[in-house]
Amino acid sequence: MRPHTPLARSLIEARARTDTLFGMVKPDAFYERPIPERHRIIFYLGHLDAFDWNQIGQGALGLTPFQNSFDQLFAFGIDPPVGQLPDDKPSDWPTVDEVLSYNQRVRLNLDEVLDQAPEQSLHVAVEHRLMHAETFAYILHQASLDHRLPPQTRLRLVGPAPDLAMIEIPEGPVTLGRPCHDGFGQSPDGSFGWDNEFDAHACSVASFAISKYKVTNGEYLEFVRAGAGPPPFWTRRSDQWFWLAMAGTIPLPLDWPVYVTYEQALAYARWAGKTLPTEAQFHRAAYGAPSGEERLYPWGDEPPDERRGNFDFRHWDPIPVTATPLGDSAFGVSQLVGNGWEWTTTPFQPFPGFQPFPFYPSYSAPFFDGAHFVLKGASPRTAARLLRRSFRNWFRPNYPYVYAGFRCVEN
Ligand code: AVJ
Ligand code: FE
Repeated sequence: MRPHTPLARSLIEARARTDTLFGMVKPDAFYERPIPERHRIIFYLGHLDAFDWNQIGQGALGLTPFQNSFDQLFAFGIDPPVGQLPDDKPSDWPTVDEVLSYNQRVRLNLDEVLDQAPEQSLHVAVEHRLMHAETFAYILHQASLDHRLPPQTRLRLVGPAPDLAMIEIPEGPVTLGRPCHDGFGQSPDGSFGWDNEFDAHACSVASFAISKYKVTNGEYLEFVRAGAGPPPFWTRRSDQWFWLAMAGTIPLPLDWPVYVTYEQALAYARWAGKTLPTEAQFHRAAYGAPSGEERLYPWGDEPPDERRGNFDFRHWDPIPVTATPLGDSAFGVSQLVGNGWEWTTTPFQPFPGFQPFPFYPSYSAPFFDGAHFVLKGASPRTAARLLRRSFRNWFRPNYPYVYAGFRCVEN
């Protein structure tokens, strides 16, 4: 039976999105591990459907497992600390065909009942899959071109150099998080948020200045010339710097945002006599307005579209930091959503009123360890439905594989 509800259709569409990504893996490369800290590719092939089965089939609908060993094997896989590397062998894993038949059976079984599944379980499955569509792009990006097919890319190269303006943001209120009425990720209006987005609470932010644009490769190059180490997506040939784009190596685009770790971002900011924004400052610059109102998106309340920023899988790589003025915030700050996540100085911690989802207690809580920082905004590979104001991303401060940059703040 073909599912009909819009949410059920979203899961079908999200599957097409991730199937396309796995289609870029060369057949003999499924046991490669392009990022040493993460699983082999074969894990992710099984993980997405196992997760859907565990959450929707077994969890929400109480269906009987048909291959419990795979449900367990592929249940979880997040980043261990950098330097603490997994040591499993290819032979520890099932064959690609075994995993593909498991996936097919999950889909056939689930599609019979998807229209009856609780909305919450479908939101969890869709957003989980779409987050992996982004992080699997990080993994593919690190795979050598012997192991994957390069995508067709449309690069937008070298526009005018951005001016380095700092924008004054006056003191004012922000609302972090989203209101919750049942403790299980349902907002009063029925929309979805993950456990770490609850509860809504107001903060007051003192005046500060923030850079209009994300810090570019061109700006970061001056720091490297002054002796700093190179960012993760840079490589050097003789005395020229290049960018490791998704489809291959290109001359360093000076007006693209630089992608760096939190540690590198903070080092640059300090070198420039500045710092990075807090999560609340990011909210104020992005969603606040001179009038005191708060918007759903930097550009207003209209839903995201391609004029507003570089997100929702349209590009594989960044675009110039000046390219999307129609996405500017009420204060005139550019590209706060899209073209690369932005590091904040805020450690990933629960909001007041946080409760883990009982059906997925390990989504956020294990990462409230002071060793992860909040990132806001979005990257070129972030799905449109994850662009809501309350969405919080988090990574370790020295994790170099994320499509994440930063902007500077003066307090
Ligand atoms: C929210 C992107 C940090 O990939 O580690 C996927 C999302 N959690 N499966 C991650 C996630 C479990 C998570 N991030
Ligand atoms: Fe996962």
